[in-house]
Amino acid sequence: MDDLSPLRQQWLDRIKDAADPAAIEDVRLSALGKKGEISLKMRELGKMTPEERQTTGKALNALRDELDSALRARKASLEDAALEARLAEEWLDVTLPGRPRRQGTIHPISQVSDEVTAIFADMGFAVAEGPQIETDWYNFDALNIAPEHPARQEHDTFFMHRAPGDDRPPHVLRTHTSPVQIRAMQDHGAPIRVIAPGRVYRMDMDQTHAPMFHQIEGLAIGRDISMAQLKWTVEEFFSAYFGTRVKTRFRASHFPFTEPSAEVDIQCSWVDGKLIVGEGDDWLEVLGSGMVHPHVLRSGGVDPNEWQGFAFGMGIDRMAMLKYGIPDLRAFFESDLRWLRHYGFVPGDVPSVAGGLSR
Ligand code: DAH
Repeated sequence: MDDLSPLRQQWLDRIKDAADPAAIEDVRLSALGKKGEISLKMRELGKMTPEERQTTGKALNALRDELDSALRARKASLEDAALEARLAEEWLDVTLPGRPRRQGTIHPISQVSDEVTAIFADMGFAVAEGPQIETDWYNFDALNIAPEHPARQEHDTFFMHRAPGDDRPPHVLRTHTSPVQIRAMQDHGAPIRVIAPGRVYRMDMDQTHAPMFHQIEGLAIGRDISMAQLKWTVEEFFSAYFGTRVKTRFRASHFPFTEPSAEVDIQCSWVDGKLIVGEGDDWLEVLGSGMVHPHVLRSGGVDPNEWQGFAFGMGIDRMAMLKYGIPDLRAFFESDLRWLRHYGFVPGDVPSVAGGLSR
């Protein structure tokens, strides 16, 4: 029998020299593949005498196994090295500070929405959502605003286009967040405590009005929820939001969806043209509210003989302007980078009642 040692050494050297997985595969095919050198040698066993076949067969089997293991080991070590190289190359220090010139800021409306949500969440309110394109039933009828009600005109509604013959219910861009009250009651029944921040739309545009703006709705329904709890909740909210004790004044008002209804003013003063909230003897109107009208409870599938509660609605943009001294509402939606840098907030500076609400 031929001595297999030179053959063995030659293949082991080639395995050692293979520099990447493709080279390893080449070596494997030329040694152990169907037409590989070792495989061909094994095929020659048939021409040998039985004695020869026994010793050579055994030696060839051993060689084949040895090469196979060597190939696998080499492949694994190449793969490890490749991974190490990639890890070294793609290494990235996530603890480095951002590059200030390229860092974006959080828009004041996002920040204030988070602040308001954090305060109400701390009082046990969940966040509810609804669509911005609403049926006129949710936006008006369900809220006790009948078709002929003057409030429909006051809302300067955007109506969605309808093709002639389209008999689906008319859709509008919601004019307030109040329809989310109905959806939340339908989805969760009573008792319930939710707030609903979101975009609303009205055909209006000047220094204090934009056709798209933001409101936050509040709704609390229970067996014996009263105006007194409304007043406490609202005062607690404003005090947390402005970071100082804020007195409120409730003025009788009218909204179709609440009875009785009240507009809420917060205590403030004007010093050299600057507004200071929480002191002085001026008042600033900031919120609409009242006890939810029985018709509205019924629209939400809640029995007014068993349940009662309060609701309120307020403008988020307005809240941001008041707290952060932003003079013009229109600038909110102009995406002017200088404005965003000036009035924006540091990303990751997430407001919370315990951790602080503003910079
Ligand atoms: N939806 C009213 C608006 O947009 C605001 C409002 C007033 C909401 C009284 C309420 C409420 O929930 O009780 O002008």
